[in-house]
This record gives sequence, C-alpha cells and structure tokens, in this order.
Amino acid sequence: MTSVDPVDLATEVGPLRLKNPVMAASCEATMTERDIVACLDAGAGAVVAKSVNESEAAARQLNIAEYVLLDGAGDQVDWPDRVGDETLLCRSGLAQSSLDDWLAMLERAGRHARGLDAHVIGSITVAEPGPAAQIARRMAEVVSAVELNVGAPHGREAAAVRQLTGPDMVAEYTRVVRAGLDVPLIVKLPAQADSPAELAHAARRAGADAVAMIGRFNGFWPDVRTGAPLLGSWGAVGSGAMLPTSLYWVSKTVAADPDLSVVGTNGARSGTDVARFLLSGARAVELATAVMLRGPAVLGECVRELAAVLADAGHRRAADAIGVALAKAARYADIPERERPAQPWRVPPRG
Ligand SMILES: Cc1cc2nc3c(=O)[nH]c(=O)nc-3n(C[C@H](O)[C@H](O)[C@H](O)COP(=O)(O)O)c2cc1C
Repeated sequence: MTSVDPVDLATEVGPLRLKNPVMAASCEATMTERDIVACLDAGAGAVVAKSVNESEAAARQLNIAEYVLLDGAGDQVDWPDRVGDETLLCRSGLAQSSLDDWLAMLERAGRHARGLDAHVIGSITVAEPGPAAQIARRMAEVVSAVELNVGAPHGREAAAVRQLTGPDMVAEYTRVVRAGLDVPLIVKLPAQADSPAELAHAARRAGADAVAMIGRFNGFWPDVRTGAPLLGSWGAVGSGAMLPTSLYWVSKTVAADPDLSVVGTNGARSGTDVARFLLSGARAVELATAVMLRGPAVLGECVRELAAVLADAGHRRAADAIGVALAKAARYADIPERERPAQPWRVPPRG
C-alpha cells in the first residue's frame, strides 16, 4: 500500500499565516470564550469573535434577536429537528460585554489559540469610524488581526450598525481604522452594493490587508397560513444557495487584483465548499451558519474534507488550489458559437 502525502493546508491572509483556511466567522457561536475555544479545539485556523462596537443600542439589539430555520421547501423547522442544511433567517445584535471584559476574554482566547498555532481575530461591526478606530487599536493589543465589518445587512433595518455600499465610504472607514493600527486589518464587505469587487479594491487602496466577502443579504419570509412574516420583521438570510453568488464576487475581485487577499464568506457548509472558495481565488473561508447549525465540530470536518478533496484533485498544497478556476473561466465573448445551442430542458427527466 502506498501512503498518500498529507496536503499542506497552510495559507496566508495578508501578512497573517493560517495553518489551514477554515475559519469560524463572527456570529453568536463565537460570542463567549468557551465557544471560541471550542472552535479552536475543533481545528479552525482562526476564529473571528462576535462583533462589538461603541453603540449601546447595537448591543441591546441582541435582546430582540431571533433565529428561524427554513427547509428546502421554505417551511419552518424547529431547531431540535434541524438536519444541518437549513436556511437561517434572523435578527441579530452585537456582543453585550463591556469593552474591558471583552478584551480580557479575547486575550485569554488568543493565548489558547497560540498554543494551537491558530488565531483569534477581533471584530467590529461599524457604526461611526472614529470609535471603531479606537476599539480596533485596543483590540490590536490582544488579537492577531482585526476584522472591520462595514456590510452588516442589519444596517438597513436599524441605525445602531451601518452598511456601507459605496467605495468612498468604505475607503474612508478603512483609512480611519487603519491609521495607527499595527495588526492586519480585514475589511468585511456587503453583498448588497453595485459592485462588491469595487468596494474590495477601495478597501485595499485605503490600507486593508485583506477583505472578507460577501456579507449576507436581507430577507423577508411570510408564513402562508398566518400571512405574517417570520421573525415579525425583515431580517438577514443565509443559505448554502448563496455560494455561487459569493464565488462570483470573490472570483471577479481576485481576477481584477490577484494580489488582493480575499477571505470568502456566505454559503460555505462543507470542506468541499471551502475548496470551491479557494479555487475561486479566496485564501481562507469563514463559516457561521454551519457552526450554528452543526456545532464547532463542523470546522474539523471541513478541514479533513478539504484535505481529502484537494488530494483527490492532485493538489499537494492548499495554496496551489487558490484561483485555479479563474484561469479556466472564459469571458462570454471568448466562447465559440455553436451551430445549434443545446436545449437540455427538452430532454425528459429519467425515471
Ligand atoms: C446569527 C448570525 C450573527 C452574525 N453576526 C455577525 C457579527 O456580529 N459580525 C459579523 O461580521 N458578521 C456576523 N455574521 C455574518 C457571518 O459572520 C457570516 O459572514 C455570514 O453568516 C455568511 O456566512 P455563512 O454562510 O457561513 O453563515 C452573523 C451571521 C449570523 C448567521
């Protein structure tokens, strides 16, 4: 029997080296030291802690958080009955600790991460740029990197957080937070903009070391029996069905600037999905919904599945897979015309 060489999963996000590209994304499953440690122990290369900002209203918004699951037919699923591939529709708020307590927690979790050759990343979902810069500088004393979320979908529903959709605003926030920050800065971008790729390039020009993209969309889902929307309001929505859209923007962003470090997010549910993000040009991938649905162990499963998928495709290093699909993607204009376009919908289904 021949032994297969293990795949080297190491990757780089700007100047930050990760032992593997599987990251826990900022969410309620990364809001306590215990949860962050569980994600690290499961094998994540990095964990992005739940976001904070300067606004008490943003933290209070967590008191009206609600999380609804939908199955493939759009019917509500009770949490104990979930199978793990559901769509998650929610309202959410920010962490409620005092900044001092939060930083002390991040420091302890960061020490634990270092023992595992992993990282804890602090996160700020922005309200105003000045206070975000102050929080980032304090965070930088205890974490490996800071992620600045300028794209929260809840920013469309409440004033306590902001969603920036134009390149000028993204550049301004990035510049203000970058100044005086001595750890890598990742800017997390919204999906809902004319061009998330343009926002990414604006963030980079303003000093971001990396971008994370794309944030979730807003959602609305009426119950057909009662006529009332689930959650009783608008919300944010995440589903595996978002993956192609996320891969579109990651690949377009990297195609325009191959040196830009992009972290993929929105729609990854497995190690195979992580591989899809890498092939589209991402250097690492953040998962939130999968961790909330299936627990932190899913992160270790993703690491193992990623290694297997890459080995199967003949890659010895994760870094070698990054952007491979870009080189194989043609522009519409370069696709040769066929005499008769295929009409696969006319073929009757099997069985
Ligand atoms: C319940 C919930 C809370 C979230 N809270 C935050 C947050 O505080 N800060 C942030 O940057 N992103 C937050 N996110 C977004 C996630 O980090 C992630 O980017 C997004 O859910 C898409 O990835 P996914 O498909 O793996 O869920 C949250 C997502 C969910 C589902």
